[in-house]
Amino acid sequence: MHKDVEQVAVDAAARVLDTNWTGRHTVPATGLYPHQWSWDSAFVAIGNRHREPARARAELVTLLDAQWADGRVPQIVYDVGRDDDYAPGAGFWRSETSGLVQPPVHAWAAWLVHCADPAGSAREGFFASVYPRLVRWHEYLHVRRAGGVGLPVAKHPWETGTDNSPLWDVALERVPPEARTPIRRPDLRHAGSGERPGGRDYRRYYRLAEAYRDAGCADDLPIGFAMVCPLFASVLAVSELALARMVTALSDGGGSAPSAAGGAHEAAAARVIAALDKHLWDEELGLYVALDDTTGERVHRATVNGLVPLLLATPLAPGSAMGPEGAVGVGAGRAERMLATLAGPGFLGGGPFLPSTSREDPAFDPALYWRGPAWFNMSWLLQRAVRARGRDDLAARLKGHFTVAEPEGFPEYVDPDTGAGRGTRQFSWTAALTLDMLLSEEIEVLPRP
Ligand code: SER
Repeated sequence: MHKDVEQVAVDAAARVLDTNWTGRHTVPATGLYPHQWSWDSAFVAIGNRHREPARARAELVTLLDAQWADGRVPQIVYDVGRDDDYAPGAGFWRSETSGLVQPPVHAWAAWLVHCADPAGSAREGFFASVYPRLVRWHEYLHVRRAGGVGLPVAKHPWETGTDNSPLWDVALERVPPEARTPIRRPDLRHAGSGERPGGRDYRRYYRLAEAYRDAGCADDLPIGFAMVCPLFASVLAVSELALARMVTALSDGGGSAPSAAGGAHEAAAARVIAALDKHLWDEELGLYVALDDTTGERVHRATVNGLVPLLLATPLAPGSAMGPEGAVGVGAGRAERMLATLAGPGFLGGGPFLPSTSREDPAFDPALYWRGPAWFNMSWLLQRAVRARGRDDLAARLKGHFTVAEPEGFPEYVDPDTGAGRGTRQFSWTAALTLDMLLSEEIEVLPRP
């Protein structure tokens, strides 16, 4: 992007984030998503760190303030005054937060936020505030959400962050499309019905959410959906390594984090990576897939989720004994296979933007939510991964996706063939990750301050 064009995009992105800031947190979009969302806030913090580092820290702290006693960090923290504007709301959950969770990108985000302003972070005692809470969050996932293969399970498609991805189709088929709660769809006021999950999906989403809520959101009772996702597991591994970095930073600063804790986080990351590698690889598709924890079956579908383990294909923790290739996380040759898949006809080889579902998958639909459209957080995740591996060609392609963000009004997602905006506009993580894409010079997945 030309420098002047970049400056226009940076200024416009900052305006989106200022408009969507409530004084306590940033809403993903003022109309469609009027509350605080878990992984959205992490991405927002990653962008805001370049311009409003104190706000970036506050974003994560307010989210963690809503942490449950069992350690879970909720998917949504409701602004109860706006309960009519999004469904299901606080009334449905009978709680000021949703009982579900979202992918654990938070510790990684906290590390990146710290790196942008280490002095401010130290002055505010940022790590002292967030580290213990992030540890309890990960413990919740490792222990209460442990699935059969030792990786955490998502108990609802909303927990995966990739709601209607074909990865969940088979498991969702088993859920009766009947809910007791009358279903409201305020989302359809802000995005076309051809771009959002359908009525049948929604009846199943509600059915599952009701079952979970009625079980008191306890995790010892199966509710009929338990999926292991390669995206979820990968960001958990990166986040564990971020916690290891935090331990070092805390002890350098005279903090009280036990020094053995750093090793424990690295060991936890290594366990996650080893389980991912053992159970989720799909040799034919050349990427990782989801696993249905109820049946033990892998789901043979190619989606962008399955390329996110590329994040683990670089020496994230030099010197530590991670994974089969020493410091390299995922198994021998798999990084190269994933790069080939990424460059191949299903993804970047088949069109200009990175689709959420492979163009070669029968469910591919360029308009429909997670079944084809290109999402900026996915381009951001993979851009970080390939840049760290020295694949500047692919990194440039993925960075190029952000050129449409400002002209299209910071859309939620775009058509993977034309780049035309889809979903809602002035979407916070699109703005935030555009900022990060233009302003960050980091090469590593986990940079140094
Ligand atoms: N993505 C969900 C929705 O569309 C919420 O997490 O409502």
